[in-house]
Amino acid sequence: MAPTIVLAFSGGLDTSVATRWLQEARGYDVFCLMVDLGRLPDVELARERATQAGAIGIDVVDARADFLRYFVFPALAAGAVYEGTYPLATALGRPLIAKLLVDKARELGATAVAHGCTGKGNDQVRFDISIRALGPELEIVGTARENKLNRDEAIAYAERHGIAVRQTLASPYSTDENLWGRSVEAGVLEDPWLEPPEDVYAWTQPLARTPAEPAYVEIGFVAGVPVALDGERLAAVELVERLNALAGAHGIGRIDHVENRLVGIKSREIYEAPAAVALIEAHRVLESLTLTKQQARFKERVAQEYADLIYNGLWFTAHHQDLAAYVQSTQRHVTGEVRVRLHHGTAVAVGRRADRSLYSHALATYSEGDQFDQDAARGFIKLWGLPVEVQARAQLQLDPGSGDPLQLGRPGE
Ligand code: ARG
Repeated sequence: MAPTIVLAFSGGLDTSVATRWLQEARGYDVFCLMVDLGRLPDVELARERATQAGAIGIDVVDARADFLRYFVFPALAAGAVYEGTYPLATALGRPLIAKLLVDKARELGATAVAHGCTGKGNDQVRFDISIRALGPELEIVGTARENKLNRDEAIAYAERHGIAVRQTLASPYSTDENLWGRSVEAGVLEDPWLEPPEDVYAWTQPLARTPAEPAYVEIGFVAGVPVALDGERLAAVELVERLNALAGAHGIGRIDHVENRLVGIKSREIYEAPAAVALIEAHRVLESLTLTKQQARFKERVAQEYADLIYNGLWFTAHHQDLAAYVQSTQRHVTGEVRVRLHHGTAVAVGRRADRSLYSHALATYSEGDQFDQDAARGFIKLWGLPVEVQARAQLQLDPGSGDPLQLGRPGE
């Protein structure tokens, strides 16, 4: 009896070819696992393909709610955005797909799992490491990495084996989609000087076709997790889907980034993430009301670390567990509402409120009712500035290069 392998299946050219190739070249019985993280392509077509390609079975798992609850929302709470721009949709999906692959392999008594990632991307790293963390007994086959078929060869291979993939080849790009965003690479995008053609985008309207009037949406959070739109409590999937549609219609969430891949190359990536961009902005603004200055400053550093570990495939690690504990602790008072204006490609928070807000009108106001003790300011500044004055007397005048205070920020000019 042939050993069984569970393949992360998308229904596209590469994983359809992989289904056949794993049988032919590696002697496996292939079980296809299709994981729905939102925005799944045609499932019926995918089932047909898997059958054509000779799979022993196919499962479609709806993992959308778990994806948001256990992966996306913790990342949102952490403020994790890779290199300050990429909300990490693809990167967040991989560890969950890996987990489901391992579960399925155990259920079927399979000895191996497979994915169709190429050998130069980040996704292979995320899959391989997550699988090794959760199912170290399983063998891992990276089909594209190992069969090294280029696009034309893959098409020819599919045709030779009666796998109908022509319909899906309209797009010249490599794309990945889930509820948190859409990633697009390759084709003409490989020239970083070239403006992305309009056909790159699928979720967002071009600015010229966005409504003349702004839309306002009130996003409600409880302990850092988005739970309501315009006062209506919504399940996570519904909330994110609605926000993707709404913000996308206003052209929000287009991201064009030359990013540093873990494998050492720079690549030009286009992302569309309307809901993510709006939610990240709203969450950040609610934190500005509910976290102290020190918490906010320190959390920013954690956010970068968190984004890096997600990007670099280190989700299932103790380091992540520790950072997550910190992040969750910071969210205990991040409860309230943010009003966001959506207009011509931007999501801007224009109002915020929280029951446990640290903003005090009585302390901030310049009008009647001011309770801030301005007399205390003099003493405070005297001590705060004391080392500056001491240093200026002792050192600044003595240093010949800094004779002209204008040149302090442009030394030697
Ligand atoms: N560069 C992004 C990342 O590493 C997106 C990858 C997109 N994957 C794809 N198969 N098109 O997360």
